[in-house]
Amino acid sequence: MKQSLMNLIRKLGLLEEADYVKFLLSSLNYFFRNRKFKVDNPDIVLPPHFMLFESFGKMDYASYYEKGKESADDILELLEKHHTLENINLLEWGCGPVRILRHIPEILADKNLSVYGSDYNPETIKWDKASFKNINFSKNELLPPLEYDDNFFEVIYCISVFTHLDEETELKWFNEIVRVLKPGGIFLLSIHGESSKDRLSEEEKKIFDEHGCVIRSNVTEGKRSFTSYNSEKFMRERMLKDVKILEFIPGKKNEQDIWIVRK
Ligand SMILES: C[S@@+](CC[C@H](N)C(=O)[O-])C[C@H]1O[C@@H](n2cnc3c(N)ncnc32)[C@H](O)[C@@H]1O
Repeated sequence: MKQSLMNLIRKLGLLEEADYVKFLLSSLNYFFRNRKFKVDNPDIVLPPHFMLFESFGKMDYASYYEKGKESADDILELLEKHHTLENINLLEWGCGPVRILRHIPEILADKNLSVYGSDYNPETIKWDKASFKNINFSKNELLPPLEYDDNFFEVIYCISVFTHLDEETELKWFNEIVRVLKPGGIFLLSIHGESSKDRLSEEEKKIFDEHGCVIRSNVTEGKRSFTSYNSEKFMRERMLKDVKILEFIPGKKNEQDIWIVRK
């Protein structure tokens, strides 16, 4: 029922308006919890309201901050299995309002690494630059390139970015990430895979199984409500065909799949 309503809203081209209503409801829902979080944590810099909602999907400061720290710990643990984190250049592509990236300089304070973040949203990158002087930020466009030289990074990750891009855009960005990655460098990425298939209609499930990529559009590409789903076969045979796959971690129900590859 909820899904059919969302499909109708998408068809009518009203998703951005519907998302704004969700933002207002979420702000109301978390109003008291957020007020308490701010009182308890006066030194934690928080992103502007809609910026937080657009990247995170709910207006929950505690979850943005604490789950962001947990995700940073989990991602770094996975990355460190495959590459040293000492004396490297590390990039989060599609960093948004640094839910994860903000924690990395502190967690890896003894590793002497340089931390970079890039995103296509100009407002977000402006806020990131003003708020976190210990991270190097740059703005990219919807399509590549990044401003960095070939082979510049040892380690790159992105969480929930390919999930909001069209099929061709996904493939172009994967190639661009490989360009800026050093030979031997690693890339961790997340996608909506098999475990998100429940959300698809019967027709979309058929496309997922046969073609491997389902796109839900009719809203600006890159926004949270523009969504894509990729099958394991699509990932192995199309996106990741020219790199070495180090790890594939299928998402649990409604979680994203994680892939780690080496150039
Ligand atoms: C769902 S949010 C995730 C943000 C962050 N990675 C996190 O996990 O909190 C998706 C992010 O991808 C960014 N994005 C979308 N398309 C992009 C593109 N072509 N290049 C860089 N960033 C992009 C959006 O601006 C947004 O910040």
